[in-house]
Amino acid sequence: MPIHPKTVGVLGGGQLAQMLVMKARQMGLRTIVLASKRSDPAVASATRWIQGEITSEQDIRALIRLSDYITFESEFIPAQLLKKSLKQITGKKIYPSLKCLGNIQDRLRQKEWLCDYDLPTLDHIKINSKDDIELAFKVFKQKVVFKRRMGGYDGNGTFVVKNKLELDHFKKQFKGLESQFIIEPYVEFKSEKSLIFARNTKGEIVVLPMIDSVQKNNQCDYVTGPTSHPQEKAITVKIKSFITAIDYVGVIAFELFDLGKKLVINEVAPRVHNTGHFSQDALSIDQFELHLRCILGMSLPTPQLRHPDFVMVNLLGTSTRKPAVKKYPSGALHWYDKQENRPRRKMGHINYSGRNKKELLKMALLERKGILL
Ligand SMILES: Nc1ncnc2c1ncn2[C@@H]1O[C@H](COP(=O)(O)OP(=O)(O)OP(=O)(O)O)[C@@H](O)[C@H]1O
Ligand SMILES: [Mg+2]
Repeated sequence: MPIHPKTVGVLGGGQLAQMLVMKARQMGLRTIVLASKRSDPAVASATRWIQGEITSEQDIRALIRLSDYITFESEFIPAQLLKKSLKQITGKKIYPSLKCLGNIQDRLRQKEWLCDYDLPTLDHIKINSKDDIELAFKVFKQKVVFKRRMGGYDGNGTFVVKNKLELDHFKKQFKGLESQFIIEPYVEFKSEKSLIFARNTKGEIVVLPMIDSVQKNNQCDYVTGPTSHPQEKAITVKIKSFITAIDYVGVIAFELFDLGKKLVINEVAPRVHNTGHFSQDALSIDQFELHLRCILGMSLPTPQLRHPDFVMVNLLGTSTRKPAVKKYPSGALHWYDKQENRPRRKMGHINYSGRNKKELLKMALLERKGILL
């Protein structure tokens, strides 16, 4: 079956969709994105744009009809809606599967799925009533994290509660909405890491080098790598059998907490991931090409490091001034071309590769200071 006349449809028009369609174009594929605004980052690079909402059954149907393969840049499209939209349209392939999407997009089901497959993750308590909150607060020794079951990203759905006062505040703020959250114990991790896997329709799997990520205000600030952990091999084996058992197709990211001897999964993202952007410049193949190769059933070359060390820094908005690059960095700048800036918004990232992680990071953090207008 020839690959090149094929059209890949992407739900969503943000920077992840943008980098996917840019890569698809290089690979000779046609692309269509479903995005609401012409100025959405992915629109300019796509072969075709459908103006619409990723939450509209009608708009999703329009994308599906015009695509051979469908994928998404975010796990927030309700799996049920996609399922409904796919009805009566035959011969279209959507990857990752709707079952994988449905189970991962809900933090509670995700946790339960990980537990079913014996993957290490933090304990959690499901909240049905206010009493469950009190109970969990006690069980987890008065240091907890509330996480929104659906739709949390960049720390937006994450609430750290470390004393009674903060708990009262949380309860007041989310009165009546308690069941939208799960509770986890707050942990003092040594570091945060991530492991990214790619699995194709034939069941082949490749893994990207493990990275360390540093968050600021619960949001990814920068990434360094490669890194390692005594439990890396063991968890890699477990994750490989998990993604095989659930027949996952595409790139999938596992965010990890390094608890010293233990390595546990914080969360799973069924898509290309911010902590995998280093692959664009530091590896022989990047996560975007891997994702496309997975869904198209192409073979997966093993990602090779092109340099011993790498660093990726996010460019996060700090104001609402018109976005612009003030000066050019020595690293590889990936600019998302967003028309509006706002505090914490991801505007771009810069990749550095070289021989000395510490030196690279120093330079990256210094250069980053003067880049955004
Ligand atoms: N149980 C915990 N104990 C301590 N810190 C935590 C815990 N859970 C989350 N955090 C911190 O909050 C950050 C965001 O949490 P999480 O990844 O679960 O939410 P998110 O909104 O999906 O974030 P993102 O989109 O940035 O990955 C984590 O990267 C970590 O720094
Ligand atoms: Mg996270």
